[in-house]
Amino acid sequence: MVIIVKIPEIREYVIEKLEYIFNPRSVAVIGASRTPGKIGHEVVKNLLEGGYKGKIYPINPKAEEILGLKCYPNIKEVPDEVDLAVVVVPAPIVKQVIKDCAEKKVKGIVVITSGFSEVGNREEEDEIVKICREHQIPLIGPNVVGVLANKSKLNASFAPDLPYAGKIALISQSGALIIGLIGWTWLHRVGLSTVVSIGNKADVDFSELIIYFAEKDPATNCAAIYMEGTDAGREFVEACRRAAKKLPIVVLKAGFSKRGELATMSHTGSMAGSARIYGAAFKQAYVIQAKNLEDLYDRALALSLQPPLKNDLVLVITNGGGAGVLATDAAEKYGIPLQDTPKDLAEALKKYMPPFGSTKNPVDLTGMANEAWYYGAVTEALKHPEVGGVVVIYCHTAITEPMKIAEKIAEAGKVAKEMNKPLIACMIGGEEVEKASNWLKEQGIPSYPIPDRAMSAMGALREYGRILERIGYEK
Ligand code: COA
Repeated sequence: MVIIVKIPEIREYVIEKLEYIFNPRSVAVIGASRTPGKIGHEVVKNLLEGGYKGKIYPINPKAEEILGLKCYPNIKEVPDEVDLAVVVVPAPIVKQVIKDCAEKKVKGIVVITSGFSEVGNREEEDEIVKICREHQIPLIGPNVVGVLANKSKLNASFAPDLPYAGKIALISQSGALIIGLIGWTWLHRVGLSTVVSIGNKADVDFSELIIYFAEKDPATNCAAIYMEGTDAGREFVEACRRAAKKLPIVVLKAGFSKRGELATMSHTGSMAGSARIYGAAFKQAYVIQAKNLEDLYDRALALSLQPPLKNDLVLVITNGGGAGVLATDAAEKYGIPLQDTPKDLAEALKKYMPPFGSTKNPVDLTGMANEAWYYGAVTEALKHPEVGGVVVIYCHTAITEPMKIAEKIAEAGKVAKEMNKPLIACMIGGEEVEKASNWLKEQGIPSYPIPDRAMSAMGALREYGRILERIGYEK
């Protein structure tokens, strides 16, 4: 019996070769099926429909052609180099297929097939890993949905669509969760560069992916991770620390409850570990934690669209007193308690509110606020040297059109960009407001439907700012 071996160390060849997996010139689908609805059929269909421009080689000994593409009985007979092999044959055939891939000298492998260590079949999993490592071929999986990358329009998975495009790389230990979350990206305009399902992570683990995204992939500027557990903790910490200057990393760690730990064990065979131990490791790793799935996206969205918050003075500008109070509570919860508005700024802000408005922080422009007041107050605050960033809150009123407010916030976003300060919006209301909020995100301004979520996002930008103050900003 071969005994392997979670990742022995961070391997530079893996970091180099991951580009062949996310940006391949050619893809072979081994186990491409003639039958619509089978996973092996859907992967080929997704590659075609996703708009992938490289060559696609379906492999199936029983078929001549699938979806108009010529089929080959074995990968070794493909008359071309193959960068990426996606494996969708049943578990008992996988080992032979991996040997064929090694002989063919493919550059990277993704094994979608289930039925390995997650069900106790560790031996066979170890054997395929051994072959891949001997030939220095990075292997993602087994037991995964696949990989998706917007930069190459690669949907090498059985998830129905590529995600809404952006700069977040989503790395997930759960495959099905990924499929659901891709739908969310379109609904809420959370832009992703890449989606990787790592399943049993028999070979490639979080670590090398994190370094790849930090150092080799200009399409990514933030990593969002759904983690159940890792048994390569030391490497994880090392990778995150190496990546931290270039890549903010947000992690949602699951399985902290008693039964959650058991569920984790039977899902991906990982040890969940205690919240305290993981919390300490994350701190050491310069990782920013998320408290749930929504928060993972919220925080990653802000980190992918806005610069870090460089000091603790966040100004909250609102047209609703209640929303301001909620934001004040949330600011404390997320480690950026509100401070008084600097005196000269308070004076300047009086131009943008009626006499009964408030220049204290939160700044209340009152229900009379129009888009011009919003623009004036937000830009005035952003330009003030002591202010680190602004959270602008809008409650839908009969005297304002949400889209007009959003347009002015986007315009203020240009000033924020010039000042290199974060601007975050919170838009509270119905359908029209949601539309305006989504539009804002398309313009690069993170926008949330409640103050707590907006402040959590700003809190994440402050956490990243503090990390960079400790380790130094990128030159
Ligand atoms: N090389 C290439 N193709 C081969 C082959 C070989 N050596 N041997 C058989 N095939 C073909 C089959 O003929 C079939 O094509 P066909 O439908 O045109 O006949 C195709 O490969 C698939 O094989 P099949 O036996 O029909 O398997 P399947 O589609 O029922 O199941 C998996 C295969 C991989 C999908 C299944 O084993 C599995 O693991 N499912 C779970 C996947 C999953 O959930 N992953 C984790 C997500 S989080």
